Amino acid sequence: MTNYDLIKKRTSVRNYDRQEIGTSVLEEINNYCTALNRGPFNNEVRMKLLDLGQLDRQELKNLGTYGIIKGARYYILAAIRETDTALEDLGYCLENVIIKATSLGLGTCWLGGTFKRTAFASAMHLDEGEMLPAITPIGYPSREESAKGSLIRFGAQSHKRKPWKELFFLEKAERPLAESEAGPFRNALEAVRLGPSASNRQPWRLIRDDNGAYHFFLKENIIYNRILGKYKMQFIDIGIAMSHFELVAREEKLPGGWSRKRPAQTPSGMHYIATWL
Ligand SMILES: Cc1cc2nc3c(=O)[nH]c(=O)nc-3n(C[C@H](O)[C@H](O)[C@H](O)COP(=O)(O)O)c2cc1C
Repeated sequence: MTNYDLIKKRTSVRNYDRQEIGTSVLEEINNYCTALNRGPFNNEVRMKLLDLGQLDRQELKNLGTYGIIKGARYYILAAIRETDTALEDLGYCLENVIIKATSLGLGTCWLGGTFKRTAFASAMHLDEGEMLPAITPIGYPSREESAKGSLIRFGAQSHKRKPWKELFFLEKAERPLAESEAGPFRNALEAVRLGPSASNRQPWRLIRDDNGAYHFFLKENIIYNRILGKYKMQFIDIGIAMSHFELVAREEKLPGGWSRKRPAQTPSGMHYIATWL
């Protein structure tokens, strides 16, 4: 499958099958996590595959997800040092791992809020200055969703995405970029649109300038994004958008790379993140 197909296939899985993940698959995931240790802003992301099967009862009792995730034996934990661009890099790297896992038939679910952070952080053995913004379970999806999983999906309206005209723009934020005007970047943009985001808020906005550069902005919901203090989930969402855009752009041999050449104007209410140039 292409990256574009994998991005279309991925959904959040909250109920896992008993089927064990084979050693060679675990090894492949582990190697991928180790190799992918930096995001586009060059922050080092440290990821760890945690096997709950290796833990004692007391440790297991502490490592909860408030009953949101069922049946998962493995988790990937992603830690990073606190900097201005840490969360975007963390989103980018962990989403690349999630797409890799999808290619191996495995399910995942971004967790930024509904997990016991202190207990998982202690299993991660954080270094000084590091934080643990998010984790994901990893395993084969169960055939059926759990009741809590269905409730969350319904609450977040997870099956829906905003239309193109609310997300992508030409030169200024008032002029929508139609799908028919996107040319070779159509699939890369669609991959951004389909990405997962915290509470499915889809805070990414992209403006293409007259040189063909794509400027990535965050339309932040300040109240929502600051609920978790330093763990500002919507910056992770933008890292996920960057991962999807790049995975498809590279596979479709489109030119470009990341820069921070900000446009002359930032539309009001938006936060500039990066440019694909
Ligand atoms: C940064 C981030 C944090 C998330 N945190 C949680 C969480 O704490 N608990 C949860 O059940 N889902 C969480 N999600 C999953 C979203 O609700 C889900 O991605 C969104 O509703 C879209 O659904 P989909 O992933 O099935 O396409 C999170 C997603 C992202 C990207």
